[in-house]
Amino acid sequence: MDKNVIICDDLKSELQGFMQGLSYDKLFVLTDENTKRYCYPVVRDILGLGSDASLVTIQAGDTHKNLESLSQIWAFLSDNGATRHSVLLNIGGGMVTDIGGFAGATFKRGIRTVNLPTTLMASVDAAVGGKTGINFNGLKNEVGAFYQPLCVFIDCNFLKTLDRENILSGYAEMMKHALISSMERYASVFLYDIDTMNFGYLNRLVEQSVAVKEEIVLQDPKEQGIRKALNFGHTVGHAYESLSFKKQAPLLHGHAVAAGLVSELYLSYKLCGFPMGKLSQVVAYIKEYYSPFVFDCNDYETLYQLMTHDKKNEGNHINFTLLANIGDIRINQTVEKEKILESLDFYRESFGV
Ligand code: GLY
Repeated sequence: MDKNVIICDDLKSELQGFMQGLSYDKLFVLTDENTKRYCYPVVRDILGLGSDASLVTIQAGDTHKNLESLSQIWAFLSDNGATRHSVLLNIGGGMVTDIGGFAGATFKRGIRTVNLPTTLMASVDAAVGGKTGINFNGLKNEVGAFYQPLCVFIDCNFLKTLDRENILSGYAEMMKHALISSMERYASVFLYDIDTMNFGYLNRLVEQSVAVKEEIVLQDPKEQGIRKALNFGHTVGHAYESLSFKKQAPLLHGHAVAAGLVSELYLSYKLCGFPMGKLSQVVAYIKEYYSPFVFDCNDYETLYQLMTHDKKNEGNHINFTLLANIGDIRINQTVEKEKILESLDFYRESFGV
């Protein structure tokens, strides 16, 4: 596996150059309803696509990351003569790159995919690293495959139209990447003022953030070991996210991850000696930008049960990734229930909920 993410200064020349150098019989494009309207025209002009004959569009939103949409994509590819020598270009957020990646992984046992992420979350996380899949049987990402895209083109110009909440959502994964990498990256990410957005600087932060993920995925593409570092903040974070759905006040994924980072940094402090000073800095930063997630002690058992069902677990253990310091990663940590509940207390106390 090679590095395959291009941070574009000029999407036009980079995408044109890449496609011209690629040998394929047909190019298919996948969008959702939103990216069809706002992003596809840019790509159509760049690639000089004459008609929309090879464009397949699915409904937007994570609830449509399902078997029905997948079947729609498979049928489209099949009806329009896609072969193993075809290419599928996925344009969209994580929902589109996940399902398009999985369609590519499975159609005729695998056709090449190219990702063009249009959200910050997809740019720094979902579109990179080859995790693909759909929700199934009421469970998120229950069916999928590790399948690397041929290339990922990141153009921060697409991010200019994102609202603050979606920027914050992607930024949580950038905080995670900084925490698991180095003091230098930590300083640059946690000093950035999200509310006075400087896109030039954000572009550089995105580049560094993606580099952290790429390095890890290159070492361990199928999450046998060090890739588990990318789950930091996500064991508690996924439980917060699921609880928010049960309460019918859904959190965007990255907002749940930000809350999860707070709880898991507390566990890191308690169990691995993560420095209290840095824990306080991170909590202060997250409090400044992210709204509190409101829950109370009556939710603790539900949150704990949700963690026991996390697909990252092995056997009966809830599997955590913790940190002994910035960049000092401890994978496969088992944490007793009492401490996990304390980490929920810590979040609530920190956010005054
Ligand atoms: N989102 C975590 C990973 O790709 O491994």
